[in-house]
Amino acid sequence: MDESEREFTTTYGSRYFAKSVPKYEMPKTGMPARAAYQIIHDELNLDGNPSLNLASFVTTWMEPEADLLIMESIGKNYVDNDEYPQTEVIQDRVVNMLARLFNAPNDCKSVGSATIGSSESIMLGLLAHKWTWKKRREAEGKSVDKPNIVMGADVHTVWEKFARYFDVELKLIPLREDIYTITAEDVVAEIDENTIAVGAVVGTTFTGQMDPIEEINTALLEIKKTKGWDIPIHVDGASGGFILPFLIPDLQWDFRLEQVRSINVSGHKYGLVYPGIGWLIFKDKSDLPEELIFNINYLGGLMPNYSLNFSKGSSTIIAQYYNFIRLGIEGYTDIMKNMQENARYLASKLEATGNFKIINKRVIFPLVAVELQNCEFNAFHLSEKLRQKGWIVPAYTLPPNANDIAVLRMVVKESFSKDMVEMFFDDIMESIEKLNQSSEERKEIIDKKENPTLLY
Ligand SMILES: Cc1ncc(COP(=O)(O)O)c(C=O)c1O
Repeated sequence: MDESEREFTTTYGSRYFAKSVPKYEMPKTGMPARAAYQIIHDELNLDGNPSLNLASFVTTWMEPEADLLIMESIGKNYVDNDEYPQTEVIQDRVVNMLARLFNAPNDCKSVGSATIGSSESIMLGLLAHKWTWKKRREAEGKSVDKPNIVMGADVHTVWEKFARYFDVELKLIPLREDIYTITAEDVVAEIDENTIAVGAVVGTTFTGQMDPIEEINTALLEIKKTKGWDIPIHVDGASGGFILPFLIPDLQWDFRLEQVRSINVSGHKYGLVYPGIGWLIFKDKSDLPEELIFNINYLGGLMPNYSLNFSKGSSTIIAQYYNFIRLGIEGYTDIMKNMQENARYLASKLEATGNFKIINKRVIFPLVAVELQNCEFNAFHLSEKLRQKGWIVPAYTLPPNANDIAVLRMVVKESFSKDMVEMFFDDIMESIEKLNQSSEERKEIIDKKENPTLLY
């Protein structure tokens, strides 16, 4: 027997650790489970640490009881409704709870879908509006060959994807040098009878700010009255949908507004569930054209389905329901308040250094977007330097026409305590010091080159 395969050989002492791992071709023979696990587990250490990832909005921690439920349901395909009917019941409960959280008229059973994330939800929501527009135009005997959608350049890339994939003209309102959201006047200037919907964001990906939805709604109501164009608003509440109901419940951004007909929200962002869950909620049954609902019978039973993909895991749906009944309104509010407070604390510390201009000044959403000032280096240098310490902080330029502004964005999540803020801040200051030193060194070298006598 090979020495390394002796009975008491440890995993690391086995021959698998002295060989390259198959990368392009499936190996002819396998390996023991323990060795396969360890090799992949060790390779994944090269990934960033999720707890230090301030780049992503996506949840990196859930309670052990949620982890347990997730593992118990990991093998259930959501689409097999006939086999797993209770999962569908749970999905419907979440849809109804969200619809009520977004102030939908609750005289009927709410309509919506669990999706893989806000991207799928946005595609489905806009598709429904395109369909409604088309049906209305056809009934009026009008042309349907030039649908368009109006939104600001502050939208997530998926909105542009929708326009391209579903053949809708994109009317993108550019940002300005100092306003990184859109205005109602911008919207009015772009809409016409072919506008299938207006897109508005609560919690933009770039700066965590909000489009003025109430004002856009008022403007669209006026247009409906004067021109007869009934243009719906789809609200992208990927982040904001789980923030505003808890932190600013009186703010009118949701189904309380007449033209808001659909809302998406990411369960895996501030819904506090691991990646792979989004929600699409319609205000009313009539907002989802019946022709788009497919009734599938080949899994047994009759199953209505409005989704882009077919199979998907059940576990994140169940985890969302766990959070709802475990936390309730009070629990979510407490968590949102902590996150907001920690984000505000971070913003105030950064601002006090004089090196950072806070873009989202009121810090409503628990993130801090900053522009560097009084520095010899740029946001990309600082991002790189922080990465050396393990912190993941993205640097990027804003969309047109604010694209000469480079920002750093720090998303404060549930597990990012005040203590973590302090450690993170110390590392920022140390990184700045090092970058300043190296720019001093760079400057010295340049000075010496320009004035060679200094060399002697
Ligand atoms: C405002 C906004 N909309 C949509 C999305 C896409 O969401 P998802 O990743 O859930 O598909 C994001 C993601 O960051 C976002 O910030």
